[in-house]
Amino acid sequence: MTPSAPILQLQDIRKHFGGLTAIENFSLEVFPGEIVALVGDNGAGKSTLVKIISGVHPPSSGTITIEGKPVTMSNATMGRAHGIEVVYQDLALADQQTVYMNMFLGREPLNRFGLLDRRRMIAETEKLVKELDVRIPSAHATIRDLSGGQRQGVAIARATHWASKLILLDEPTAALGVAETARVEMIVQSLKQRNVGILIISHSLDQVFKLSDRICVLRRGKQIGVRETRKTDKNEIIAMITGLQQQ
Ligand SMILES: Nc1ncnc2c1ncn2[C@@H]1O[C@H](COP(=O)(O)OP(=O)(O)O)[C@@H](O)[C@H]1O
Ligand SMILES: [Mg+2]
Repeated sequence: MTPSAPILQLQDIRKHFGGLTAIENFSLEVFPGEIVALVGDNGAGKSTLVKIISGVHPPSSGTITIEGKPVTMSNATMGRAHGIEVVYQDLALADQQTVYMNMFLGREPLNRFGLLDRRRMIAETEKLVKELDVRIPSAHATIRDLSGGQRQGVAIARATHWASKLILLDEPTAALGVAETARVEMIVQSLKQRNVGILIISHSLDQVFKLSDRICVLRRGKQIGVRETRKTDKNEIIAMITGLQQQ
């Protein structure tokens, strides 16, 4: 097996908010088809890292390299242009709109008459929803009529449609029930076959151990370590998160 080149490389990333150091000296590589979990206590800097990688916050210093090319981003639009999409915990969809409109929100294709190409949006939505096995009544369903799990399925389908390189998931199941979480976990697992890099933030170590290939631990902005999931266990990860030895 030839090891592939990393899809994302972070080198010596630092981020200050005024006097506060949110991230210090962070370096990580994510490979295509790999799921890396980012864990750490509240305030550790996980969401800040997602915002740095997605272009929302430029780092104070350090380099972001995507498929071998250093990139500079100053907003999420630039991140999206580099093939990076984010799924947030708070189900960031337009409630009053249909599933297919949400899939293309702000990036709607036009037909040759310069009108919204609804036929194409619907066809592409149906194809992806089927491939990912997101169980929704139809592409025409209105978001507010869907369950939390179905909505998060749509958000992941949208990210999958647009992300050519990297999907970042910031606590994607935090607002979901047990069965819905299991469904979303299956969808995330299936993304591996698409050969994008996946970075997932989760508070659930069960989820982290179920889904990830590697686990990166952050504590108060410091990178404590990266482990291969199959070579570590919950005790070690908890000790790394808290800085306390487990009994
Ligand atoms: N926009 C911001 N301005 C100032 N401080 C921020 C901002 N975003 C995050 N922080 C601070 O950075 C630290 C890391 O926050 P965050 O990345 O949200 O942590 P996590 O997602 O791991 O809970 C916290 O101390 C938080 O208060
Ligand atoms: Mg967070």
